[in-house]
Amino acid sequence: MNQNTGKTVLILGANSDVAKQCIIQYIQKGFSVIAASRDTASLEKLVADHKLDSSKVTILYFDAVDFDSHQTFYDQLAVKPHIAVYAAGFLVDNEKALRDFKEAQQMMKVNYMGAVSILNIIAMDQSNTHLERMIGLSSLSGVRGRKSNFVYGSTKAAFTQYLAGLRQELASRKIKVNVLVIGYIRTKINEGLQLNESLIMEPDYVAKYIVNARNSFTIVPNFKWKIIYTILKILPESLVAKLP
Ligand SMILES: NC(=O)c1ccc[n+]([C@@H]2O[C@H](COP(=O)([O-])OP(=O)(O)OC[C@H]3O[C@@H](n4cnc5c(N)ncnc54)[C@H](OP(=O)(O)O)[C@@H]3O)[C@@H](O)[C@H]2O)c1
Repeated sequence: MNQNTGKTVLILGANSDVAKQCIIQYIQKGFSVIAASRDTASLEKLVADHKLDSSKVTILYFDAVDFDSHQTFYDQLAVKPHIAVYAAGFLVDNEKALRDFKEAQQMMKVNYMGAVSILNIIAMDQSNTHLERMIGLSSLSGVRGRKSNFVYGSTKAAFTQYLAGLRQELASRKIKVNVLVIGYIRTKINEGLQLNESLIMEPDYVAKYIVNARNSFTIVPNFKWKIIYTILKILPESLVAKLP
């Protein structure tokens, strides 16, 4: 167990399976955690089940798509964060997203608009002089447009580009920004999907990359996914079009 860092991390969308592992690992590293989620009961259970030091965890209600609530949510934080992590995410399959705009719109709202809404507020609070890092969980599906998942992928591509610009915006204040470009993880967002087992990562494995984020802007957990990421980036469009 590490020394108390005296630092606070705010995790938005904290009921994500990956975010829950981040809560555990940040506490092990000596952080206090503000865990913000729509499902506060599930987070109370996490604290109890893992016997986490409850003095280190503050659980708050947060809805990523209730944009009008975000300023008040932030203003009411008793301690402003040193680190902010945006983990909320929503996925419906591409066929559904193409036929039902409400579902597509929900992905845009959770994966992109909600992130921009709350992260802008956090980033623009210059009175929080100890803000040192902002981290977003994005996806390999946002690297290239592919026919199997381009609606979800486009929301993640937008989020990745937003974070790239935010990094430039905040550089003069020495605030780091990281984007996690993630492949398959065994979490509830993927329930029911047939995924290549040899490529699936566990939530605690991905969480390690998040809590240990350093200077590199783009973080791609796992060497197999790094290779896929590198190939995807350089592949000609004619070959990307042949992928699923
Ligand atoms: N799993 C993968 O293969 C994979 C791959 C690449 C990127 N990612 C990204 O990684 C992040 C974490 O996902 P995960 O894999 O840990 O899946 P997960 O367990 O399903 O987590 C997604 C979380 O987003 C939360 N969320 C959805 N709508 C929200 C809203 N309106 N307000 C607040 N929270 C909301 C959900 O909250 P509730 O629990 O309340 O429903 C859920 O806890 C997501 O951004 C996801 O897109 C995942």
